[in-house]
Amino acid sequence: MTDAAHSTTTTDDRSDYWNTYYAARSSTRRPLPSQFATFVAGELEGPHRVIELGCGNGRDSIFFAGNGHDVTGVDGSQSAVDACSALAAALGEPATFLQSAIDDPELPQRLSGSDGPHVVYARFFVHAITDEEEKTFLDLAATLTSPGDVLAVEYRTVRDQVGAKETGAHYRRFVLPATFQARALERGFEVTYAVEGYGFAKWRHDDAYVARTLFRRT
Ligand SMILES: C[S@@+](CC[C@H](N)C(=O)[O-])C[C@H]1O[C@@H](n2cnc3c(N)ncnc32)[C@H](O)[C@@H]1O
Repeated sequence: MTDAAHSTTTTDDRSDYWNTYYAARSSTRRPLPSQFATFVAGELEGPHRVIELGCGNGRDSIFFAGNGHDVTGVDGSQSAVDACSALAAALGEPATFLQSAIDDPELPQRLSGSDGPHVVYARFFVHAITDEEEKTFLDLAATLTSPGDVLAVEYRTVRDQVGAKETGAHYRRFVLPATFQARALERGFEVTYAVEGYGFAKWRHDDAYVARTLFRRT
């Protein structure tokens, strides 16, 4: 696993980057969901509790809420969470948003407590956090899920180190899917669907080489 293509490395630098990014892009127009969100929604039978980690501008959380799921979006950026909350209120969507770093020890307790099938969902989050934070993310996913629940992730892989990127220089890691999957398996998940390649997450000139994986909690 490599830590390439990042110009900022401290937690404060990363937080500043995302706060500035989302503060400049706040909107109350209904956003399109990602391709990954529509794929995951199509795999779910009936309403789920969806916990989105690294929800960014909230487009996927709001999409899941609009499709009848009980959604909480979490992001480390306060400006992202403020924008998500304003957007959900403007659109009348009942999604809830929390500001929290992934490694905040209070986060598991803040997200616990509801019955029914759960999905832990993270799109373009795994490559935005450090290797240590990835382990914490997987620990959290294991804590929040019960047998039969789903972990859904999409992230940039080691094969995405070349190629155009639409967003400017910021912390970004390129992840080895075999390592990520092994860590998930150690925590009680099994792979139910896995695919890699271009074309799953194209955005303008940036056609990321991603891994898209669904896990089931055993
Ligand atoms: C590449 S963006 C992805 C946003 C959204 N999921 C999407 O696909 O559009 C990564 C997000 O992760 C958040 N993030 C980065 N590091 C984090 C951390 N340590 N804890 C919580 N959130 C973090 C950032 O604030 C940012 O919103």
